Amino acid sequence: MMIEVDGVVKRFGSTRALDNVTLRGDRGRVLALLGPNGAGKTTLIRILTTLLKPDAGCARIGGLDVAEDAGRLRSLIGFAGQYAAVDELLTGRENLELIGLWYHLDKAEYRRRATDVLERFTLTEAADRLVKTYSGGMRRRLDIGAALIARPQVLFLDEPTTGLDPRTRNDVWEFIEELVGEGTTVMLTTQYMDEAERLAHEIVVLDSGAVIAHGTVAGLKDRLGGDRLEARVREAAVLGRAAAVLGELAGTTPHVDPDRQLVSVPTKTGTAFLLTAARRFEEEHISLDDLGIRRPSLDDVFLALTGARATDREGTP
Ligand SMILES: Nc1ncnc2c1ncn2[C@@H]1O[C@H](COP(=O)(O)OP(=O)(O)O)[C@@H](O)[C@H]1O
Ligand SMILES: [Mg+2]
Repeated sequence: MMIEVDGVVKRFGSTRALDNVTLRGDRGRVLALLGPNGAGKTTLIRILTTLLKPDAGCARIGGLDVAEDAGRLRSLIGFAGQYAAVDELLTGRENLELIGLWYHLDKAEYRRRATDVLERFTLTEAADRLVKTYSGGMRRRLDIGAALIARPQVLFLDEPTTGLDPRTRNDVWEFIEELVGEGTTVMLTTQYMDEAERLAHEIVVLDSGAVIAHGTVAGLKDRLGGDRLEARVREAAVLGRAAAVLGELAGTTPHVDPDRQLVSVPTKTGTAFLLTAARRFEEEHISLDDLGIRRPSLDDVFLALTGARATDREGTP
């Protein structure tokens, strides 16, 4: 285990940013922390990178305690935050060399590492330009590169691709995959399901400071009940009736997406259920634009998890 978090609590005034969080991350794997805005993702990353102290509980990286071995722990980790931490008034190369200096590397070594990082992140041409002339994507690449100067065993990335264009997102994903291929352990936070789906071996879903699910992408999907039958109605006016039909057939409350005029329910019998549903819709004179079986996406998992929580909350005064 590279990342161990046990019962971590963090409060800000009356806000419980982290509420008894326990999780594990394996060496050489990607652990994605998924959750909506305000879920507590950044707070957890800050605790694991020793920038913030937990109010209760403990956490270890590579066996080192975040509170007791903070100094030694810092030499194991790299961190790139949600907002670029690079200095605009320095060049890309100067930013990287400065970090080497902080880590007390000798000059020849940090120069070599800076050159390596610039090359790997395709910043060689821009290396000697001031960062204030860089695009958002270049800054983000430099920021992640900066986290690599110390060759960390564990890399923490807080929303590494938020605000990036699709091409640069893809570049960042490829860099992360390369690092992991070389044995680096990565913990990243994201609001994007596709990012987690692409990169993560393990996923932890946080909501209001609590872990509401922990597992592999496949495992989380399985827990959702597998395939879903999805019906898209032609006219929004019949959406409610379509939901009633599917709800009755499936014996469960359907998910309704009014924007896409979609109703869906879980199904285990696939095609047989599809035929039954098609017949019922015809009997009820409900016209459809589309009817089919769909494998769940991570989006569905997230919706199901956070949706269930929302209901629970309404149920408790
Ligand atoms: N320094 C702080 N002071 C007060 N409240 C904070 C502070 N940092 C975070 N919070 C609160 O803690 C909760 C979790 O925040 P955060 O960890 O930033 O969530 P996320 O990164 O998932 O969006 C939010 O309600 C946020 O407003
Ligand atoms: Mg955050």
